[in-house]
Amino acid sequence: MTILAIDTSCDETSAAVVADTKLHSSVVWSQSKLHASFGGVMPSLAKRKHEERIGAVVAKALGKRYRNLENIDAVAVTVGPGLSIALGVGIDMAKKLAKNNNLPLIPINHIEAHLFSALARPIAGKKVILEYPALGLVASGGTTSLFYIEKTGKVKLLAKTTDDAVGEALDKSARLLGLGYPGGPVLEKFAKLGDPGKYSLPIPLKDDVEKNRFSYSGIKTAFVRLYKQIDSPTKQDVCDLAASFQNTALTHIENVLKYQVIRNKDIVSVIAGGGVVKNAELRKRIRRIAKKHNLRLYFPYTNKLYTDNAAMVGVLACLKYKNINLKRFKDYESVDRNPRLAL
Ligand code: KG4
Repeated sequence: MTILAIDTSCDETSAAVVADTKLHSSVVWSQSKLHASFGGVMPSLAKRKHEERIGAVVAKALGKRYRNLENIDAVAVTVGPGLSIALGVGIDMAKKLAKNNNLPLIPINHIEAHLFSALARPIAGKKVILEYPALGLVASGGTTSLFYIEKTGKVKLLAKTTDDAVGEALDKSARLLGLGYPGGPVLEKFAKLGDPGKYSLPIPLKDDVEKNRFSYSGIKTAFVRLYKQIDSPTKQDVCDLAASFQNTALTHIENVLKYQVIRNKDIVSVIAGGGVVKNAELRKRIRRIAKKHNLRLYFPYTNKLYTDNAAMVGVLACLKYKNINLKRFKDYESVDRNPRLAL
């Protein structure tokens, strides 16, 4: 099954052609530089830029081989969660293409696509088989959630954030330090040069016996307070602050993950995705937990699959619907955006 996938859930305009989890093409046009001066994503600007680019991005993903949607079996599109007006641009394009070519239109949950993004493979790559049951982590700009995965399509939420997502917290703390947007990667760079023990910040839910949620509002407030106490911070102070914040934010994920690994004794593997998992320190810590508990570990095979992309949308469509009669996906009008779609 060959899928044309589209994602416009936030500030990346993206399209991909995926066949049986193999990436035939993957095009991501990031708007992040345009949003940087606002310190975050401006929804109206995101919509306008998606509208300007979507046609070219889809054409590039289709290339000569799939031009006019030849040899494409279905169109898959992210319907949520995400920015409402941004989602609408991708959905409108996907609907138009599916209708005009009489193809099935498959609605996809963006978080679920991140969750299984590690199962994508290059064109000549071997199939990646996830061993079940698995623990799945999605840590991104909008989501911090941990799932118990019985099999593809059968997923139970174990923990989610009750306030900010980890990526959002990293972005906000980087902005406070004057480091720009998106904050996660730049904070990681500065953190490498800093001392994570220099400043102490409260580790969220440290004393909770049951670690079945995430929370980032407390350290965010503590960080603002801490920053205000430092007169004219030097470059080294900024590095130390970045290192302290990142360390605390990641320790929280690590603690919840450790707790849930011990609690869900039957799991045999861990799979992780989302922009924040691109962070080398976080991956090191997840790797350590997997090794200690003898669990198989899955991360996306390329950096491009961590942050938002349409390839993961196509991969999920291949995995979930490979044995299903796609005729049921011809009710185009039922496909609509759902900015708060849960998993
Ligand atoms: O997955 P993504 O593109 O967006 C959502 O689906 O929400 O993730 C974007 C988030 C941003 O908050 C960004 O700061 C963070 O991922 N991020 C990182 C790194 N690269 C991106 N956070 C920590 N370390 C990184 N290297």
